[in-house]
This record gives sequence, structure tokens and C-alpha cells, in this order.
Amino acid sequence: MSETVLQDSVLPHSAIAIHGPEDFEGMRKAGRLAAECLDMLTGHVAPGVTTQHLDTLTREFVFDHGAVSATIGYRGYRHASCISLNHVICHGIPGPKPLKKGDILNIDVTVIVDGWHGDTSRMYYAGEPKVKARRLVETTYDAMMAGVAAVRPGASLRDIGRAIQTLAEGEGFSVVRDFCGHGLGRVFHSQPNVVHYAEYYDRFGALHQAPDIELKEGMFFTIEPMINEGKPDVKILKDGWTAVSRDRSLSAQFEHSIGVTADGAEIFTKSPKGLDRPPY
Ligand code: MF3
Ligand code: CO
Ligand code: CO
Repeated sequence: MSETVLQDSVLPHSAIAIHGPEDFEGMRKAGRLAAECLDMLTGHVAPGVTTQHLDTLTREFVFDHGAVSATIGYRGYRHASCISLNHVICHGIPGPKPLKKGDILNIDVTVIVDGWHGDTSRMYYAGEPKVKARRLVETTYDAMMAGVAAVRPGASLRDIGRAIQTLAEGEGFSVVRDFCGHGLGRVFHSQPNVVHYAEYYDRFGALHQAPDIELKEGMFFTIEPMINEGKPDVKILKDGWTAVSRDRSLSAQFEHSIGVTADGAEIFTKSPKGLDRPPY
């Protein structure tokens, strides 16, 4: 019996940019500002607050720091943040609906500083979340950090996905396959595609494998796993952006922008205040 093997997004290694010390310095500045923006928002997330208000705070923060929002005007997107509540996986559009007690939400911001992109997201709680929601959020953070821990020169891109998938599935959750991390730097989205699984069989029985690309010092990319409480399947709403879990189960995400160093990874978007994960 033959099985179909689909190696997702196979790319020539040469398509991935290699960066030097000055580029790392550029990413440190951009990553830090993006992280500081998420730090600022921790004090504002509460029941009754609208996601539109959180987006306004984000836009003003970015502007006040002399930076540019990478998402405003990106493929027609009009906001400085994506805010994804509960069963929204990613690309939630800020709006006038107030947060409710127990909501969990992801806020994702990308800033441009001196031409460099800092892209990061965290989960927030509006009031006390349910036990299972908290476990999903904590697992998603741990999965992202397990992915970061797998990064070093000589490792494979597939090792990142394996670390994330093992951790998330070990807790009974599933890894979203339709969205991935990405190279970034002077551009917002570039090679490589950083999928958050090592491999899976799709509903036709075809095996999908993460590309076996060797990581090299100087590569910049994001790790941004989306983990669902239920099945991994995605549906895009009519607005063309909002991605929800098809079974409407809760979904969580964290995102860091990182650079591959001589012996591991440098996280550009770490919180200067240690507010990398809730509760804040
Ligand atoms: N920040 C998202 C990412 O992690 C991209 C958002 S694009 C937008 O890649 F247009 F939806 F804002
Ligand atoms: Co990203
Ligand atoms: Co992002």
C-alpha cells in the first residue's frame, strides 16, 4: 500500500534570510516595543471593556513611541491588533462588544521600528477563567516555549513542531494546522513557514510532515502555536478574517519573535516586566 506524503511548504534553504549582529539589534528594539505594548494592555483587560478600546490603546501606544503598526493597511486589515476571544483561533477583529467575565482572549500586535518587525501575542483573562480554559492557556504557553527550546543551529524546523505537538496533544488538546509561524525581519511574513506540528494524517489519510529544514544561526522567525480544546479544524467567518474553531471549542495562542543564535534562540519579544503569561 502506498501512502501519500505531503511535505508542507517545501522550500529551498537559500530562500531563508540569514541576519547579522546589526539585524539582531534592530529586532531587539522592535520586539521590545511590541512586548511593552502587550505589557501596557495587561492593566486594561477586564469585564466590560470593549476590544475596540484595547485596539485604540494599542494604536496610540505604537504611535506615541514613534513606531508604525504593521497590521493597519496589511491586506486591507484596518486595526493595530488582532483580538481573538474564546473560540476565535486568530485574526479576530476588534469591535464594540464588551468583554464578559471568564472570557479568554489573545491580543496580537506587530510593530515596525526602524524597518524591523516585532510580532508577538499573549493570552489575557477577563476576570477569573474556568479551570479548563486556564489549563488550555497554560499548556499553549508551555507549548510555545517548548518550541523555542528546540531551536538551535543544526536542529530541524520539524523539531520545533514536534516539541509543540507532543506537549499539546499530551494534554489532550489539538494543534491548529491551517496557520503557522513565519520568517520576519524587514518584512512581516517571509520564509520559512513554521508549522506547529511534526506530522499528521489528514481526513483523506494523507500524511503531512513539517519541512525538514536545518536551522541556521541568523534566521529570524515567529513561533505562534494555536491550540484548540477540541478538534483542530478551522472556519473563516464572512468578514474574511476571523478564524474560529469549527467545533466552537476554546482556542489559545501565544507568539514570540526569535532569532537563531550560535547555541540556541534569542527571544526578541520577552516581556521586560516578566508579564509573559497570565495571570498578570
Ligand atoms: N500578527 C499576525 C501574525 O502573527 C498577523 C496579523 S495580519 C492582520 O502573523 F492583518 F490580521 F493583522
Ligand atoms: Co506572526
Ligand atoms: Co502576530
